[in-house]
Amino acid sequence: MANIAIIYGSTTGNTQSAAEKIQSQFGSEAVLLEASAFSASDASEYDVLVLGSSTWGIGELQDDWLGADWLDNIDLNGKKVAFFGCGDQSGFGDSFVDALGILKERLANSGAKFIGAWSTEGYDFSGSVAVEGDHFVGLPLDEENQGELTDERIAKWVEQLKSEI
Ligand SMILES: Cc1cc2nc3c(=O)[nH]c(=O)nc-3n(C[C@H](O)[C@H](O)[C@H](O)COP(=O)(O)O)c2cc1C
Repeated sequence: MANIAIIYGSTTGNTQSAAEKIQSQFGSEAVLLEASAFSASDASEYDVLVLGSSTWGIGELQDDWLGADWLDNIDLNGKKVAFFGCGDQSGFGDSFVDALGILKERLANSGAKFIGAWSTEGYDFSGSVAVEGDHFVGLPLDEENQGELTDERIAKWVEQLKSEI
């Protein structure tokens, strides 16, 4: 069993709700933590970090992540990291779930192995820094336009993470 931390920031509750669903599908191996309360020293307790942020402004991290300076200088060698978060592909189609790409970029030198890439198929948007080739760097959820797909997407993604862990 892996020790998994699901660390999230959420303004209106959408990404929090997703984080809770992800946690319950992992069960007792995963804990739920708020981004505003996490620090670099906490990371040593976990094998896997699952980071969740919605996107605000035009392509910015959710507020609870703004003080997370640890992202830029943490050593995550030997650990795996995945990303998820809510966005609005219709209202913000040029910066759809940018927060996922920002989180990954900030951890580029951390030594972490990134898992949980997700196909762009089934989404309709024009631009996102969270895209590499034909995949997002993590799981995008869209309560405004595709809320009916959220539970199924989370279920499939958690199965994918389990096999990549
Ligand atoms: C002012 C404002 C700015 C937003 N900017 C973006 C954006 O740049 N990209 C995006 O994908 N979604 C954007 N959104 C949509 C939110 O990310 C979306 O509503 C999300 O579900 C909020 O999740 P949360 O409740 O976890 O914070 C924006 C929403 C608002 C109200």
